[in-house]
Amino acid sequence: MLLDEFLDPKILIVSGKGGVGKTTVSAALALVAARHGRKVCIAEVDQKGTLPRLFGGGALGYDPAEIAPGVWGMNIVPEQALAEYLDVQYHMKRVSKVFTNTHFVDYITTAAPGLKDILVLGKIWFLEQGRGGGAQDFDTIVVDAPAAGHMLTFLSAPMGLSDALRVGPVRRQSDWLVEMLRDAKRSRVHLVTLPEEMPVSETLETSEALTHKIGLNPGAVFANAVYQQLLTQDEQETLDAVMGDANPRELKIAAAEVGLRLDKEDLNALVRYAHFLEARRSIQAKHLRALRKGLEDPVVELPFLFSAGLALPDIETLADVMEEKVAEL
Ligand SMILES: Nc1ncnc2c1ncn2[C@@H]1O[C@H](COP(=O)(O)OP(=O)(O)OP(=O)(O)O)[C@@H](O)[C@H]1O
Ligand SMILES: [Mg+2]
Repeated sequence: MLLDEFLDPKILIVSGKGGVGKTTVSAALALVAARHGRKVCIAEVDQKGTLPRLFGGGALGYDPAEIAPGVWGMNIVPEQALAEYLDVQYHMKRVSKVFTNTHFVDYITTAAPGLKDILVLGKIWFLEQGRGGGAQDFDTIVVDAPAAGHMLTFLSAPMGLSDALRVGPVRRQSDWLVEMLRDAKRSRVHLVTLPEEMPVSETLETSEALTHKIGLNPGAVFANAVYQQLLTQDEQETLDAVMGDANPRELKIAAAEVGLRLDKEDLNALVRYAHFLEARRSIQAKHLRALRKGLEDPVVELPFLFSAGLALPDIETLADVMEEKVAEL
């Protein structure tokens, strides 16, 4: 697949189960888009602050700030989205302060569930329309969306509201959001999963619900944190032979050649770990097969990265892999 095709349309929503790597994948996707000359905005919709840490910066605000060349980041806070809405819609800048304290927003969103989500999506619509001046005119908007369970409500909020509110400006505006979410030329949802049993089965269900119940446009499914093949066939055979040996001499000699002095305990631990990873890899492979079999959408595998806390160089690596894998689709 051509990368330009993969990077379209303007709004790329990234979702999936909690902790599967949505923020990490959103960041990598944004880097890929920026490398291809696009002005990108990543919108966080939770307040975790994971995203700016990946780019080595502090907390993001409501106004987009450049966090890497060509990549802007922002955090869509419903309270601020409501203030902006009231200001733009009714020029209620001063009054809006009263309405937009957290208690008030909590109160109305309890009364009208889904309204918070609509405020967030409304802001994304606003960005898509290029409102808010030249500085906010983005080619690509990556939405680091909430975890899938909540996301189904999040994305279906305007649809529910359209049914509930038959008249008035909110009805009209929520219709605009539904149009934005259903139009394949405007938005698409990428899912992220881990190659594990529960996340895979949930991803299959979510993908089905998103496409067939809610009528959104599926993109790719990113299978994140996939263990890579560590050993070639030959190396695997050597390892198997060595494992049968209580004293893995060959490995000791090989280690010494690269300047590592390993004792028997180190060697045994290493051999056991290599076997553990190989076993994990074959379990992952089984879940990946189930994922591919159950999906119509393309699957993009991203590697597990062995670093303590991912940072920008790791995201660059994931972006490299993403480019490579998409080209193979
Ligand atoms: N490919 C990878 N290799 C190694 N670690 C990874 C990889 N992708 C993500 N992680 C790690 O997994 C953890 C969860 O990732 P991330 O924060 O991106 O998930 P998330 O889906 O956004 O989580 P949440 O649902 O809490 O928002 C983080 O510690 C991250 O560094
Ligand atoms: Mg996250």
